[in-house]
Amino acid sequence: MHICYIIAMEAEAKPFIQRFGVKEVEKYFAPLPCRLFQHNDIAPNSTLSIVTLGRQHERDLLGCEAASVATLAAIERLKPDLIINSGTCGAWERKGAKIGKVYIADGVMFHDRRVPGDDDWGTQGLGNYPVWEKSIEIASKLNLDMGRVTTGSSLDLQPCDEVIIEREGGELKDMEGAAVAFVCSLLNVPILLIKSVTDLCDDTAPTLESFLNNLEKASENLSEANANLLELLLN
Ligand code: ADE
Repeated sequence: MHICYIIAMEAEAKPFIQRFGVKEVEKYFAPLPCRLFQHNDIAPNSTLSIVTLGRQHERDLLGCEAASVATLAAIERLKPDLIINSGTCGAWERKGAKIGKVYIADGVMFHDRRVPGDDDWGTQGLGNYPVWEKSIEIASKLNLDMGRVTTGSSLDLQPCDEVIIEREGGELKDMEGAAVAFVCSLLNVPILLIKSVTDLCDDTAPTLESFLNNLEKASENLSEANANLLELLLN
């Protein structure tokens, strides 16, 4: 089995890369900015690839465009059996979230693609892409809660986005999940999304500050959950 992770930031990927001793394949995607870390012998007949989005303008790339480019390049070149989008998210305390809590997605959609006046384009814009059918069984085996990932291009939360998130049942707010799932839906590659909470959208603390303060803890929890996930998938 070839499992390919798409992880936006180096900080999110680092504990996981270190834990598995995965080595970078230098310039694999050049001239694209995304980076490949690979372990060809993670289990018999199994390869683990970790693709991060890379950097531009002295910052790690975030967001839908970089995630789509990386996912397309990864699927075309690596031909994985499964894509896993692992990363951090915002979530709502009133919906049961806590900082560092890890979830598996039971759905994935966009929340900032409005097409007023055309319901069909509006629906297409929201995406609502399928997640891998084994996600439910895996969440149950790993004892993780499930939630609907809701993706937009901004870290902040605008009232018009919140209307859509509430209407559509979004629970885990990120900046890449639906973009990765969109590419997977086009190329018929199953996708599982695993997310860890860095900030609470219904808290008064500034989002960026919470995100940065909790990034390390959330990424460590994610690495632990991913180790359990891989054990389940590869054994
Ligand atoms: N990643 C981590 N926290 C986030 C938030 N609140 N919104 C979007 N992406 C995030």
